Amino acid sequence: MLKPSDFIPKNYSQTIEKGSFQWSAPSNIALVKYWGKMENQIPANPSISFTLKNCKTITKLTFSKIERSPNFSFDLLFEGKPKESFRPKIQNFLERVEVYLPFLKDYHFTIDTQNTFPHSSGIASSASGMAALAVNFMSLEKQLNPQMTAEYFNRKASFLARLGSGSACRSVKGKVVIWGNHEETENSSDLFGFEFAELHSNFENYQDTILLVDKGEKQVSSTVGHDLMNNHPFAENRFEQAHQNLSKIKNILKIGDVNEFVKLVESEALTLHAMMMTSMPYFILMKPNTLEIINKIWKFRELTSISVCFTLDAGANVHVLYPENVCEEVLQFIKNELVVHCQNEQYICDEIGSGTQLIIDN
Ligand code: PMV
Repeated sequence: MLKPSDFIPKNYSQTIEKGSFQWSAPSNIALVKYWGKMENQIPANPSISFTLKNCKTITKLTFSKIERSPNFSFDLLFEGKPKESFRPKIQNFLERVEVYLPFLKDYHFTIDTQNTFPHSSGIASSASGMAALAVNFMSLEKQLNPQMTAEYFNRKASFLARLGSGSACRSVKGKVVIWGNHEETENSSDLFGFEFAELHSNFENYQDTILLVDKGEKQVSSTVGHDLMNNHPFAENRFEQAHQNLSKIKNILKIGDVNEFVKLVESEALTLHAMMMTSMPYFILMKPNTLEIINKIWKFRELTSISVCFTLDAGANVHVLYPENVCEEVLQFIKNELVVHCQNEQYICDEIGSGTQLIIDN
């Protein structure tokens, strides 16, 4: 089993003066949720997610060699303009990954980033943002060490992204990604995510329409939420259940059982929020409109027998998941009945994607 020290490079065979890369990295939506963590972003339970296609961060990393400096040297741009408020998050990330990327203080970096989804839409940009940054740094490391394999590149990118934001490690590569030690999953690791490669064709191009119910700042950050799983009265049972649900969903995704998928995914979403409601202090991130939407989805499903379901992340927005072949009916239903519950009637049409993509390489 790989250890963190396996990601510390021994030496580099090349020297590189300057250059730039640009990568895009998508967001992801968990089916079995990660909620609760130990030190160093080690998850308390394993999780699995669909990688998204359209909601992504595009990050350009420009670098030039400098005399090794005692501090990290970097400029930060958001949509081409300086963004000082992002600095502490990036500084923190660089500190966490420095031991694994020992060249960091030998360069000045310009990090220019933008998202394809609206700012403060309630869609967390940390997963896509950290994954985009991690693959850029891995591109530089690959120039310093050209023998690096694609497998090592992706694993280490996921490993680094995890240190930035836990769920970011599921945004590097693959349509469906598993992260976290799981007895029944060979090669599973708490350190990085890896692709679940047995997806049945029923889940090909699965759709995710994200209904933006509340675009405001969350009252409770996911960092605080994870912490509240320490000493949570139901924590042990929940972690055990996540292990069982991962075994179940792997089989569901493999045999293409869309009906069982609906049950498990909705139960996971509500369990995540039940953990929030039963922690101390307790909190509720769902809004009245979240519940209106859930009830309407249940009614629509009963009436039409169309296998549409919802999931939630740590917020009020609703992800509506459904097979591609019922796209027309479901979108019509969303427009007719659900959009009224969205803030400014906003929603984003997304679907399963395959992970990070290199845009510029020089
Ligand atoms: O990666 P974080 O620390 O923002 O936590 C994400 C937690 C959930 O989105 C609620 C669940 C998950 O597995 O993505």
